Amino acid sequence: MKAHIAILPGDGIGPEVTTEAVRCLRAIATRFGHAFDMTEAPVGAAAMEAGLSPLPKATLQLAMACDAVLFGAIGSPRFNDPSATKRPEQAILGLRRALGLYANLRPVKPFASLMHASPLRAELLENVDFVVVRELTGGIYFGRRQREKDFAIDECRYSVAEIERITRIAGRLARARRRKVTSVDKANVLETSRLWRQVVTRVMAEEFSDVQLEHQLVDSVAMLLLTRAATFDVILTENLFGDILSDEAAALAGSLGLLPSASLGEGTQGLYEPIHGSAPDIAGQGVANPYGAIASVAMLLRHSLLLSSEAAALEAALAAAISADSLTRDIARSGVAGISTRAAGDAVLRRLG
Ligand code: IPM
Ligand code: MG
Repeated sequence: MKAHIAILPGDGIGPEVTTEAVRCLRAIATRFGHAFDMTEAPVGAAAMEAGLSPLPKATLQLAMACDAVLFGAIGSPRFNDPSATKRPEQAILGLRRALGLYANLRPVKPFASLMHASPLRAELLENVDFVVVRELTGGIYFGRRQREKDFAIDECRYSVAEIERITRIAGRLARARRRKVTSVDKANVLETSRLWRQVVTRVMAEEFSDVQLEHQLVDSVAMLLLTRAATFDVILTENLFGDILSDEAAALAGSLGLLPSASLGEGTQGLYEPIHGSAPDIAGQGVANPYGAIASVAMLLRHSLLLSSEAAALEAALAAAISADSLTRDIARSGVAGISTRAAGDAVLRRLG
C-alpha cells in the first residue's frame, strides 16, 4: 500500500528516537512491499529556534494532509520561562486539537524480561496488561485561561458529547480485550467528574452491557496501580488524570522510554508518539531508549494504516530484542552498561529480516 506519513521529531531526544523509529518503518515497507512516503517538518522548540512558531502553519498543513503523524518529543529548558506566551508544548496541544485526536491510547504491558527495571516487586507485575484511554482534547488542558497579577484560572470543562465519544472508544476496546472498563474520576469533589460518571454509566449500560464497568476515584487509582495493577483492563479517564496516571503506569513497565501511544479521532488518521518527554538532560548523547518510539510505529501501522500483520511483526522484533537483553541504560541490569540508541534500533532491525 501507499501511505504518506509526517515525521515530526521535535525536541531533546525526540530526533534520536524518531530516527530509529523511521528506520524500522522503512524496514517494514521493504519487507512487506509498501511505499511509505515520509516528510519531516519542524515542531516545538526546534521550530522556535529556527524563528518559527511552535506549530508552524506548514507543519500543521502537512500533518492534516497525511495518513498518520509520527511524533518524537516536545519541550526545552530554553523555553520554559513561566511568563513566556509562546511555549513548545502548544504545538502538541495544537496538533491534537486541530486533527480532532480526542482519544489517547496508552497500552501498558511489562516485558517479562524487564522485571528488574521496575521499582515494583515482580509478583505485582505479573499479568499486568491494561490500556489507559485518556480523553485528549477537553478538560483543563483546553479550558479558558486567565492570568492576573495575584491569581490565575484554568477552567476545566467537559461536555456530554465529549464524554460519550471517549466512553465508546473505551467500550469498543474493552470488547476486544477482557471486557472490563475502570472509569477514573474525582466525583467526590469535581462537578465535571460527576457529569463524567453519569455519562459513562449511561453509555456503558445502553451500548456496552456486555462490558463490566467500575468507577474509581483518581487518588485511589494512583495507589491501586502500585498494589493491584493486574486487575485493570481498560482505564478510562479525563485528560489531566490520564496524563498523570500514564506516567505512573510507565514505572510498572520499567521505564518511561518503553511506552508508546496513539492519538485517534473519528477516522483512521492518528498521531503516534512515545509517552516520554524530551529528556533534555540526556539529549544528544545517543543513550535514549528508542523502544517507545518504535512501539509507537507498530501502533501507527495497526491503527492508521490497518496493517496488523506488519504491526505484529514489528512488535515481535521489538520483544525479541528486549528478551535478548539489548537494553539501553534506563532498563539495563545493574552493573551492565546500557547500549546506545542506535544499537537498540539495530537490535530490532536485525530481527525484522
Ligand atoms: C504527554 C505530555 C504532554 C501532555 C505535554 C508535553 C504537553 O506530557 O503527552 O503526556 O501533558 O499531554
Ligand atoms: Mg504526560
